[in-house]
Amino acid sequence: MRLLFLGDVMGRAGRSAVAERLPALRTDWGLDFVVVNGENASSGAGITGDHAKKLLASGADCVTLGDHAFDQKEMLQFIETEPRIVRPLNYARTAPGKGARIFTVGGRKVLVLQALGQVFMKRPFDDPFSAVDGVLKGSPLGGAVQATILDIHCEATSEKMAMGHWCDGRASLVVGTHTHVPTADAQILRGGTAYLSDAGMCGDYDSVIGMEKSEPLRRFITQMPKGRFEPASGPATLSGVYVETDDRTGLAQRVVPVRLGGRLQESRP
Ligand SMILES: [Fe+2]
Ligand SMILES: [Fe+2]
Repeated sequence: MRLLFLGDVMGRAGRSAVAERLPALRTDWGLDFVVVNGENASSGAGITGDHAKKLLASGADCVTLGDHAFDQKEMLQFIETEPRIVRPLNYARTAPGKGARIFTVGGRKVLVLQALGQVFMKRPFDDPFSAVDGVLKGSPLGGAVQATILDIHCEATSEKMAMGHWCDGRASLVVGTHTHVPTADAQILRGGTAYLSDAGMCGDYDSVIGMEKSEPLRRFITQMPKGRFEPASGPATLSGVYVETDDRTGLAQRVVPVRLGGRLQESRP
């Protein structure tokens, strides 16, 4: 299968880039399945139902969330009505929605799951390693499912890398999100799992991780907040990773970082 994963969509700039580019990429690259992380799609904080619908209408098969899953309160209800949204597996036990979903694509099954890291994250979440392990054992790759995509939403690259190795041979792709800066370590691990520490964001990189620069700079320099954080509004780079898998084993055969438009050096399959 040909899979595309796009990192955290950041505000209007990110949403516009997805809407403008993803429909053509689906056909040009012959994509079978597309996952988009939408946790910052609405003003940089969470995602509304309307914005989730637009990402899905643009060609996302699944929208994943993150620590900002429910910043937009309406998502608490909306997630129960839209089975194509995946929130973190190890979020509060009482949270609505699901942390793992199986999709059907032309007779093949694709498992998507997301977990939150524990290192340097603001809130303490349950152990992501045991949570992910349980789901992978329940739907083995090359058996119950033909592809598995894990969005590992962490601050620390060490925790993401450890998760990659933990899932090696058991997932098609383990990709990091949350830090909004793409890393240069795309690789196929020894067991056949495609891995990238961070997908980067779909947003304006003339910013501080997607936010307009002035307020973050003021806070770093003076420690005194003055205004709100607002998403930067310049042209966005679509940032993520492309993976080709073997339908029989579900393992990766090719992994290529994706960066299109905006300020970053272009990369495409
Ligand atoms: Fe994010
Ligand atoms: Fe996040």
